[in-house]
Amino acid sequence: MAELMQVIKGRRSIRKYEDREVTPEQLTTVLEAVQWSPSWANTQCWEVIVIREAATKQALQETLAKGNPATKAVLDAPVLLAMCGKLKSSGYYKDQVTTKFGDWFLFDLGIATQSLCLTAHELGLGTVVVGLFDHDKARTILKVPDGYEVVALLPLGYPAKESSPPKRREIGESTHQEHF
Ligand SMILES: Cc1cc2nc3c(=O)[nH]c(=O)nc-3n(C[C@H](O)[C@H](O)[C@H](O)COP(=O)(O)O)c2cc1C
Repeated sequence: MAELMQVIKGRRSIRKYEDREVTPEQLTTVLEAVQWSPSWANTQCWEVIVIREAATKQALQETLAKGNPATKAVLDAPVLLAMCGKLKSSGYYKDQVTTKFGDWFLFDLGIATQSLCLTAHELGLGTVVVGLFDHDKARTILKVPDGYEVVALLPLGYPAKESSPPKRREIGESTHQEHF
């Protein structure tokens, strides 16, 4: 338990990477973390694209919003993962939405992404979730078929520099007893 809390608290967004490869075994382990993540009715609506080619990374880098602090990381990390989601499956029953929130693919992808990031950290690897980019352009670059979206980009590699943890709200500020 103490170790789990250490992993949760110790994981940081990493935006600078060493010029050192990620092994196939490490990659398999982080993908296993995605595989075993929970999802709506076990829909497992994720698809992960593993990108190593510089040209593809560069094209994706150009989709980031100007000033995104993860811009260098997208190109410099040895591996770039694109977390994609299948639409109209999570949160649906017989092609109908089941809740007021409609499609739950972002929720499922969020959980899978956190599983991946924590596992990477446990392996000594760093990640940063990149969400601020042109999702349509990224979809075209990665040849993602209709019915699927690119949700987040995740650079993955050995951290070259860690930053100090950004401040968190106190538990009491976000926790409510009995009523909001
Ligand atoms: C959904 C999501 C999208 C994010 N998008 C970006 C991004 O586009 N660029 C970036 O540099 N960081 C991005 N981040 C990282 C956050 O800035 C970071 O998690 C937050 O500041 C807390 O820092 P920590 O991860 O080191 O604890 C994103 C994080 C999440 C969860």
